[in-house]
Amino acid sequence: MKIAVFGATGTTGVIFVEQALKENYQLKLYCRPQSIVKLGELSSHASVEIIQGGFDDDFTPAVRGVAVVVSFLGPGLNWPSGNPLEKVMMKIMQTMRNEGVTRFVTMGTPTIADPLDKNVFKYRILVSSLKLLQPNVYNDMVATGNLFKSGNYDDLDWTVARICFLKSSAQPKEHIHVGYVGDGQGSLVSQRVHWVKFILTEILENHWIRKMPFITSI
Ligand SMILES: NC(=O)c1ccc[n+]([C@@H]2O[C@H](COP(=O)([O-])OP(=O)(O)OC[C@H]3O[C@@H](n4cnc5c(N)ncnc54)[C@H](OP(=O)(O)O)[C@@H]3O)[C@@H](O)[C@H]2O)c1
Repeated sequence: MKIAVFGATGTTGVIFVEQALKENYQLKLYCRPQSIVKLGELSSHASVEIIQGGFDDDFTPAVRGVAVVVSFLGPGLNWPSGNPLEKVMMKIMQTMRNEGVTRFVTMGTPTIADPLDKNVFKYRILVSSLKLLQPNVYNDMVATGNLFKSGNYDDLDWTVARICFLKSSAQPKEHIHVGYVGDGQGSLVSQRVHWVKFILTEILENHWIRKMPFITSI
C-alpha cells in the first residue's frame, strides 16, 4: 500500500516514516526542499519517493497513485492569521477528489470539539488559554474542525486523529487510549509513537471513519 505523507519532516512525521517503512509501506513524502535533510537516510530509502513543494504548490504529484493520505501538518510558532491550515486541508482534500483517493487521516487537537466530548475543566482551560494566547492557532484549528464537521467532505473517508501535548519517548511506559475528550480515561499527553501506531492501525482497520477520536497515553 502506498501512503502520501504531509508533514513527514516534522518530529512525528519522521517517526511515522520509520515505522511505516518497517511495516513495508511505500511512501510519497511531500516536503519543503530545505527540510528534506531532516529525513536523513530515510530520504534515499528504496520505498520512499520525495515530492518537493510547499503549501502554494500543486499537491497532485504527492497524491497521485496513493491509497491513503496522512497529514501531520499543523500550526507552529508565529502562526499567521487567515487560517492557512484550513486552506491546506481543503487543498489536500480537493486534490484527493481529483485523483480518486478517499482515505485521509489528519492531525487534530481538543480545540476541535466533537459532540461526543465531555465538558471537562482541564481541557476547557487548555482550549481557553490557546484562544487567549494564540488566537491565530485557535481560529485555524476551529476552522479546520468545522471543515470536517460541515459534511462537505463526507464523500471522503476522513479521520481527524486528535492529540494533546506531544511527547517523544521511544518506548513509553504508558499505553495508548483512543476515546473522546473528557471520557474519564484520557490524559493530557500523547506519545508520538502512540499517535503513529493509531494511524498505522486505523488505515488497515478503518474503525474511525468520519470521526474525531482523541488519542492519549495513559
Ligand atoms: N507539540 C505538541 O505538543 C503539539 C500539540 C498539539 C498539536 N501539535 C501539532 O502536531 C503536529 C505534529 O507535531 P510535531 O511536533 O511532530 O510537528 P513539527 O516537528 O513541528 O513538524 C511539523 C511539520 O509540518 C510542516 N509544516 C509546518 N508548517 C508548514 C508550512 N507553512 N509549510 C510547509 N510545511 C509546514 C513542517 O515542515 P518543515 O519540516 O518543512 O518545517 C513539519 O514537517 C504539528 O503540526 C503541531 O501543530 C503539536
